Amino acid sequence: MFLKTDELREKFIKRSEELKAVSDVDQLRIEYLGKKGYVSALMQDLRNASAEEKKEAGKTINELKQFIESAIAEKIEILKKKEVQLLIDAAESYDESMPSSNDLGSYHPITLVKREVESIFTSMGFTVEDYSEITDDYNCFEALNIPPHHPARDMQDTYYLSSNQLLKTHTSAAQNTILRKYKNNLENGNPIRAIFPGRCFRNEKIDACHENTFFQMEGIMVDKDISVSNLIYFMKTMLSEVFQRDITVRLRPGFFPFVEPGFELDIQCLICGGTGCSSCKDSGWLELCPCGMIHPNVLTAAGIDPEKYTGFAFGLGLTRLAMMRYGVKDIRVFNSGNLKSLSQFTEKSFVNPESK
Ligand code: DAH
Repeated sequence: MFLKTDELREKFIKRSEELKAVSDVDQLRIEYLGKKGYVSALMQDLRNASAEEKKEAGKTINELKQFIESAIAEKIEILKKKEVQLLIDAAESYDESMPSSNDLGSYHPITLVKREVESIFTSMGFTVEDYSEITDDYNCFEALNIPPHHPARDMQDTYYLSSNQLLKTHTSAAQNTILRKYKNNLENGNPIRAIFPGRCFRNEKIDACHENTFFQMEGIMVDKDISVSNLIYFMKTMLSEVFQRDITVRLRPGFFPFVEPGFELDIQCLICGGTGCSSCKDSGWLELCPCGMIHPNVLTAAGIDPEKYTGFAFGLGLTRLAMMRYGVKDIRVFNSGNLKSLSQFTEKSFVNPESK
């Protein structure tokens, strides 16, 4: 018996040294501590032993069991740390002091991210729509179920033009126009699937996280029987493509007058993998995209019967996505016009997991 426990202990240590990922630890745990594992087998062997033998061998087996349990817990901790480090290494890092690697000019980082998201959505049957930066109160607010004096307007203080027009505060301002443009398709059995990226403006105090000029990308899908699961599917697919890995998302309730129910979509932190770090303020989650099921009043305002059709909408913060994608910590970089910073972002600087 002693011989067996010693042998098993050595075998276990060897096997555990070979483990590379947290997911491999479970297999080892089952092999040793599972119902049909080595430790249970040792216990079974004891069935016909004398009381004295049982006492002594039982103690040795228990020690072995405790050793394996704590070694496994320790191994999980070590491997978790390693995996987090790998994620950190794989994340984009942007260093303003680096010289640009190309002399041929480059696209603005928002353009690069916008094009990437556009190509993902067009591959899923969405059209890309254009909408002006100047709009009016009706499109920006009223058609979105935000009547005059509604408190939701407080968060979207904008710049009014003398012509009674205004600079759009969000890409949702295009919803009414796009829904109207395609509503006849619904009768022919064709869903409305559209994204509309655009520059938005708000009267914000500027700091590292806030800008008065930023980019969003709105998306809508309307058809018979569209539900929250369609919304989750499209968002998860898009984000997994953008970040080139399987992304875990969660929905929290969020209030926006133009959706019911409304949500905040969070993604599990890409830096720490959900364990908590400074990037996610120790929560393990990053807020990325408000969304929800289009409010019946918004569909009605566009001439679509909410009894017949339902749809989802989302408002992706493109500027925020670009910051996460490239590891840019200060939002002011994007509007700085500083070529030294801005020319560093090329298609080449996207993470290519194959090359890691
Ligand atoms: N337009 C909102 C904003 O900028 C964001 C938003 C929320 C867009 C929910 C949506 C949505 O399409 O469903 O604050």
